[in-house]
Amino acid sequence: MKKRQLLNFFLLFCICAMASAQSVKKTGAFRCGGWNDDFRQLRDLQWNMEELDLSEADCDSIRANALHSRHKLKSLILPNKVRFIGSQSFFACDSLTSLILPATTERIESRAFGNCYGLHTITSLATTPPTIAEDAFSGLNLRNINLIVPKGSEKAYKSDPYWGKFFAKKQKPSLEDCPKEFSIIPIPQEMVFTGAIALETKNLGKIIADETLANERKQLETVLKSRLGTKNFKKSKATITLSIDKSINTPESYTMSIDEKGICIKGSDAAGVFYGIMTLDQMLIPQEENGRIANLHALTIKDSPRTKMRELMVDPCRIFIPFEDLKGMVMEMARYKMNALHLHLTDDQAWRIEIKKYPKLTEVGSFRVGMDDMQMPISGFYTQEQMKELVAFAKQYHVDIIPEIEMPGHQVAAIHCYPELTCGGVQIPIRTTCGVSDNLLCPSNEFTYEFLQNVFKELSEVFTSQYVHLGGDEAGNPPLECWSSCESCKKLLGEIMSQPGITPQPNSRNDNWRLQKYMFDRVIDFLRKDLNKVPMFWYETDFHEIQPGCVVFAWRHGLTATAIDAAIRCNAKIMLCPGEHCYLDYPAARGDMPEVNWGMPTTSLEQTYKLDPAWGYDMTFENNNLYGVAGTLWSECINSTERMYYMAFPRALALSEAGWSPQKNRSYADFLKRLSHISKDMHRRGICTANP
Ligand code: ACM
Ligand code: ZN
Repeated sequence: MKKRQLLNFFLLFCICAMASAQSVKKTGAFRCGGWNDDFRQLRDLQWNMEELDLSEADCDSIRANALHSRHKLKSLILPNKVRFIGSQSFFACDSLTSLILPATTERIESRAFGNCYGLHTITSLATTPPTIAEDAFSGLNLRNINLIVPKGSEKAYKSDPYWGKFFAKKQKPSLEDCPKEFSIIPIPQEMVFTGAIALETKNLGKIIADETLANERKQLETVLKSRLGTKNFKKSKATITLSIDKSINTPESYTMSIDEKGICIKGSDAAGVFYGIMTLDQMLIPQEENGRIANLHALTIKDSPRTKMRELMVDPCRIFIPFEDLKGMVMEMARYKMNALHLHLTDDQAWRIEIKKYPKLTEVGSFRVGMDDMQMPISGFYTQEQMKELVAFAKQYHVDIIPEIEMPGHQVAAIHCYPELTCGGVQIPIRTTCGVSDNLLCPSNEFTYEFLQNVFKELSEVFTSQYVHLGGDEAGNPPLECWSSCESCKKLLGEIMSQPGITPQPNSRNDNWRLQKYMFDRVIDFLRKDLNKVPMFWYETDFHEIQPGCVVFAWRHGLTATAIDAAIRCNAKIMLCPGEHCYLDYPAARGDMPEVNWGMPTTSLEQTYKLDPAWGYDMTFENNNLYGVAGTLWSECINSTERMYYMAFPRALALSEAGWSPQKNRSYADFLKRLSHISKDMHRRGICTANP
């Protein structure tokens, strides 16, 4: 074990010993509600808590998300006088094995104990069965849980439509008739029903697929197994045919037809076929947990994406996201025809990707204690082998994995490990607070370029995506100021400014943006010529110029039109992820998670849905510049995978429809109807979502 790792373990030991108590008892006054109430104090600040006793806390109501995803919590005693247990209040507290509901319990809300996979005994002391949401224990098999109820109340519990499920015997799946309308998200371009019921799903099984579609055949088998219980894929009366049809000329497009002989899915490419299968999967979602769609209407579908890229960005720097959880994200996004997962791999607070030439980046740069007031150890990184595995895994779902290495800002963790990367070679601590650092990579030092090129070279062996994201956002506050006191940067700027035709930019605070352009030009040139990559970056007005052919991300509130105008002017491509619609790390409603933040605005589901990727521009913009849409999941205030999912869904579905479906087919009211069906399915699969 390396010296630094030993030191990390020692630090971890000291923190565990000193900081967060493992056993907590609260008595008397208890604040429930408000931005930093006692539940938030327990959930986010007692990160190590294993036992919580609230029996004597003066609290009759557990608010929504109160102790969401506290995986370490093994023992919970609810307040003696509790009446109301809010939505997702103990979601994914999966180390809890038993639960006592006090006699005062009156109501338990949606997914209050969802994904509490460890629960095997529930004792209810309430003589009248509490009113309970039908998905209060979503994700759990109720028949495997021992429910103990007060003597004399057994009949009331057994005859209650929900509580009765704890006592039910194993049931045969109930057959459901074909729905009158399908709930498909994103809504297809064209779907025509002939009305007549054409096909009994029990006859489905046999698959005929082009040889090149072995992966899609496997995906289809998984769908049929999970939705219909089909086991035999060789014999059946009705056939599902998968093929490539070169006459469909937009990438990722497909057609589907259903008649009495079977289902035929044709794609312009393998991705198109896969999306046809994802549509079929949604057509087979039953109403009831135990249901099965028995038959399908004859219909035809023609479907094609409006934009090229439908992306989600995750930030494993502020909080580490375990490797396996990234796979879960890939599978979930692919269902809604999203095709890119952007990994923000480096930032001021951590470096998360193994670089063999610079081992300190992960040995030292991936460990720190604390994120703002959350004083917990946060560590972890992805090995190159893991990332290769993720890339290969995501390919099966037609999801591209795009790595981001920030420059020149948001690089404090790297600077901490290799101080020669910054002006003056000053070592600075890894940042433990959010916000913007003034320390930047030095553009006038050759080591910066050697470092970046070596990093990108290694990454190009791991990430096969044609894209590499270079960050470029929030480089200091004021922007780029740290270069003004660096002698070699000043010299370089002097040389740039003395070149023929260069004059000061009239609307610039100073000319340091030319140093950023110098740095980006060099790195972009290397990425294009040596690695054959398409560079991407966050658009900042300070850039003044966008290198043609690059893909920029419009993200700042109120500056989307400025970014679009710049992309048009510079013949660049643009991804739309304006904070107003696409910052999925913002709360969806006031007071919802993350309750404690730096004054984030809200991005409601409706607000996300309202994104029109054309942003009022004409088809010339849409055809020449618009690349796609992206949702961000910055994680300064998200401290578990489940909370990341909670922020992502269902807003990512609204975003996927914005990026995929024609504007004329879209209606928020209709989306909500379709979502109510699809979100039931998500909850059954254990996906954590905010309530629409
Ligand atoms: C960003 O939100 N800093 C791109
Ligand atoms: Zn410098």
